[in-house]
Amino acid sequence: MTALSDPLTLPCGQVLPNRLMKAALSEGLGTSAGAPDERLERLYSRWGSGGFGLIITGNVMVDHDHLGEPGNVVIADERHLDDVRRWARTAKDGGTDLWMQINHPGRQANPLVTRSQPVAPSAIGLGLPGVPAPRALTDGEIVDIVDRFAATARIAERAGFDGVQIHGAHGYLVSQFLSPLANQRDDRWGGDPQRRARFVLEVVRAIRAEVAPSFAVAIKLNSADFQRGGFTEDESREVVRRLAAEKLDLIEISGGSYESPAMTGRPVARSASTVAREAYFLEYAESVRAVAGSVPLAVTGGFRSRPAMVDAVESGQCDVVGLGRPSAVSPNAAGDILHERTARLHARQISLRLPARVATHPNIKMLEGALDLQWHTDQLHLLGAGADPDPDRTPWLTAAAMLRHHGVDAFRSRRSSTMNRKDPARRKFEIERAFGRYVANPAVRALGRIGVRTSFATDLETIGRKSGQIRVVPVSVSFDDSGAWVISQHGTRSGWAANIVAEPKVRVRQGNRWRTGTAQLRPADDVVARSRTFAPNPVFAGLTAATFRALQSAPVSVRITFTD
Ligand SMILES: Cc1cc2nc3c(=O)[nH]c(=O)nc-3n(C[C@H](O)[C@H](O)[C@H](O)COP(=O)(O)O)c2cc1C
Repeated sequence: MTALSDPLTLPCGQVLPNRLMKAALSEGLGTSAGAPDERLERLYSRWGSGGFGLIITGNVMVDHDHLGEPGNVVIADERHLDDVRRWARTAKDGGTDLWMQINHPGRQANPLVTRSQPVAPSAIGLGLPGVPAPRALTDGEIVDIVDRFAATARIAERAGFDGVQIHGAHGYLVSQFLSPLANQRDDRWGGDPQRRARFVLEVVRAIRAEVAPSFAVAIKLNSADFQRGGFTEDESREVVRRLAAEKLDLIEISGGSYESPAMTGRPVARSASTVAREAYFLEYAESVRAVAGSVPLAVTGGFRSRPAMVDAVESGQCDVVGLGRPSAVSPNAAGDILHERTARLHARQISLRLPARVATHPNIKMLEGALDLQWHTDQLHLLGAGADPDPDRTPWLTAAAMLRHHGVDAFRSRRSSTMNRKDPARRKFEIERAFGRYVANPAVRALGRIGVRTSFATDLETIGRKSGQIRVVPVSVSFDDSGAWVISQHGTRSGWAANIVAEPKVRVRQGNRWRTGTAQLRPADDVVARSRTFAPNPVFAGLTAATFRALQSAPVSVRITFTD
């Protein structure tokens, strides 16, 4: 019988000293340039001496243009190599193996920190309010992302990490490719389960070709999406079977997505046996054993008590127990369990404890889900600041901080909730938005009132995505016969651009006539060249472009096609 304290030899030859793994927890502690700094070093030195057999980092992005959360570390090239080396060295001081989780958010890119339109297997938006619709990736772009995963893994190895874990779960790009809801392509990347699995297999192969055989390559995979018509357990088992034929060192089982966050145990009704065994995905893991062959299995989600962990490993249902939220509150969680300093890890269901008739409302449930994640992120930030975690922190404090920093939008999705107010990009956006709101827009309106109306400064009418009300904003427009071009200075961040993504039907005033049309964000358009066409006279083209450039944060061209 296997004990929690037994070592585990992985296919690559690495030996984990015990069966407790610190699961990936996105820290939100990268600098605005995407580099790790001393806050991450402090946090990981705590985990490094916490008794874990393996430490997996929070998700690190493979592309600076596509971020999952504010404060992500981004490793797309070697610009931060020295910082990444320092991070790895500090984390490994205690002798524990360290793997980097690597990720591309795809359509789950965070609109507040991602400067270009999100990309996805197909142009199908998330079922979450306020998240811009993605565009479909081209074949060449998909190959490029596969190469990015491999490049990030190579840099992780150079920096001293012992392995990488591909984030193939929770609705990010890899799982978008696997999901029939998100991937409706009909080429070599989609169309049937085999082709939908091509992306993840290519990513694994590309990484393997780039790193030494002794470097671990692992994946976190969903058992299912928990959405009707989504990725099922049967499909997931088939993906595991195909992955097992590659040179993988560990498959971690999780589940859900930010649309249906089963990974933290929220929307899923649990059977009595699951409640007894704590871990939500253990039954599935057991059923995957046969197809996983010799690849070790980890299960994360719900483990809190020593007996449940011992039982899962002793009975062979899984080889490794992943600990997520408990590691945020108890950085020594593994040591405490292994040395029997505690029989049960700190587990707090983060809730505002509202009356039942309010608490069951979908918006309140979403709020509590966001709060759970943010409360645990707050603990990571305490550790990063050199303090101790605060298990007694009231969720109301987290809720108040979220409201103060981000208004009610903080609760719309987990990933909009950790925006750092000191982030220079955020500051710049806020200043420019204030300039537009309080200086430029009123000036254009005042000019309009005294009859100064040009196509260069006109009005655009969208439908507010939150309010459902008509919203009129002053914009510069370049008209032609079939429609008009507008530039969204703040790309997908601007309110009216987000409105268009949610409802493309718009009206735009051409002289004294209101025209009806369909608007679409065109991130592939050359926005600098486009801005030159806005000059009322070609002589001013350079000046107009320079003005747009001076103002811009991450501008995107918007095309309105007349439908009247
Ligand atoms: C604050 C927070 C951040 C997380 N970030 C990640 C992440 O970057 N990558 C990932 O695969 N899972 C992430 N997760 C999910 C956890 O790894 C884990 O699957 C989930 O919390 C369930 O395990 P638990 O019950 O032990 O917490 C995150 C969870 C929390 C609470």
